[in-house]
Amino acid sequence: MSIQQNLNILKTPVSNNPEKSPFNAGETMAEQTKKLTVLLLGSGGRECALAWKMAQSPALNHLYIAPGNGGTDAYGENVDLSPLDFDAIAQFATEKGVDMIVVGNEDPLVAGIYDYFEGREGSPIIAGPSKAGAALEGSKDFAKQFMVRHGIPTARYQSFTAETLADGEKFLEELKAPYVLKADGLAAGKGVLILDSLDEAKSALREMLGGMFGKSSATVVIEEFLKGIECSVFVLTDGNGGYRILPVAKDYKRIGEGDTGPNTGGMGAVSPVAFADETFMRKVEERIIIPTVKGLVDEGITYRGFIFLGLIEVGGEPMVIEYNVRMGDPETEVVMLRIASDLLPLIEAAARGNLSTMPLELDARYATTVMVVSGGYPGSYAKGKVIEGTEECKDAILFHAGTKREADGTLVTSGGRVIACSAYGENLDDALAHSFKAAGEVTFEGKYFRRDIGSDLRAIEEALGMK
Ligand code: AMP
Ligand code: GLY
Repeated sequence: MSIQQNLNILKTPVSNNPEKSPFNAGETMAEQTKKLTVLLLGSGGRECALAWKMAQSPALNHLYIAPGNGGTDAYGENVDLSPLDFDAIAQFATEKGVDMIVVGNEDPLVAGIYDYFEGREGSPIIAGPSKAGAALEGSKDFAKQFMVRHGIPTARYQSFTAETLADGEKFLEELKAPYVLKADGLAAGKGVLILDSLDEAKSALREMLGGMFGKSSATVVIEEFLKGIECSVFVLTDGNGGYRILPVAKDYKRIGEGDTGPNTGGMGAVSPVAFADETFMRKVEERIIIPTVKGLVDEGITYRGFIFLGLIEVGGEPMVIEYNVRMGDPETEVVMLRIASDLLPLIEAAARGNLSTMPLELDARYATTVMVVSGGYPGSYAKGKVIEGTEECKDAILFHAGTKREADGTLVTSGGRVIACSAYGENLDDALAHSFKAAGEVTFEGKYFRRDIGSDLRAIEEALGMK
């Protein structure tokens, strides 16, 4: 497998969006190269992996993580701030001289953190999209309309509200089972229902429009079901048409082995992904990434951060299942391992709008992560279980998610997904062996992990003659 090229900038120059943001106006070179004080928002495994990567940067002065977790404090200083309390974040940023805020999770972006800081005297730069850009994740209807406007391949769809319920039922009758119903707004990853029968789909539509996900399902997107294998592609873009494609990954969403049982926040991930080869990635770049980046610029939507493309391969062709406006979790826990370059200057360049001259080198090795979770997750589970064995793990990097440190230093569980055991390998099996070994060594009462992460890709690698 060759390494993706990443020195892309749009072939057609994208003009008409001169620096709208005041952030990079009038900066001297000295200011642009000074060491950065960074505030990272979030508390999951994704943020732990981002903190791990940024902490290695010679360009970093100091890293704060708000609120962070029991592992992020190995790479920076945890601060007890809510990522949604913009006033408190602004006050903290002024007090501590924060140069850049990197937003890990979608909520502050959808709530408009970029717009809040834009144009404020002395404010930090923000790595992330404006509120208008965050609507790519915050409104599935907006995302679908955007894709249609820019000819980006995605499932056929229509959107409905309580007033158009009858039309929604008719549209369902035109489709074949299974039926895909999506709450328009954010629903903590639970807003997508896939129903096997028309009756179930009609009643789910009524319930969703009746408030099943509160305001988030006041509009429901109904779309054609696509059959294929999924992968996640991440792009860093600078709002001026410059972009870099980060390593492709595949995550494992279901709790049970063989992709069974309820959805979770993610049970593991692998990078690279055998079927996302050069030919596939070229199609992704030409048909999806370039039109997305150019579409944002052309529509005057400020977007300086990560774009997550949830893709599905249907008969060799990539189609977009969803956009997210942040990195993926647990994909970040493998993607960070596969970025050889210093990521911090790249994120800074994206936030300042000048990514196009920045190199991005990848690590050719495989990376895998296996998530150890609390017993009972994604249903109810106990917290406060003492975690042991983390010191013994030598071959894996442990990215903490639901962990916290008690006042006496004891590490305990504080969430469903507890630790992502990430590892390198010369091949898939090698990386997985390290991840599984670490997942075995970390212990707490009720621990569970999937032992089949990556096994579908092993079969694909064999079929493609890669073994
Ligand atoms: P989302 O919350 O948009 O990530 O959707 C959750 C999951 O539902 C996706 O990862 C897919 O596995 C599945 N899904 C969403 N849309 C479709 C579709 N049109 N066809 C098949 N599966 C889908
Ligand atoms: N791994 C999927 C997500 O982050 O939404």
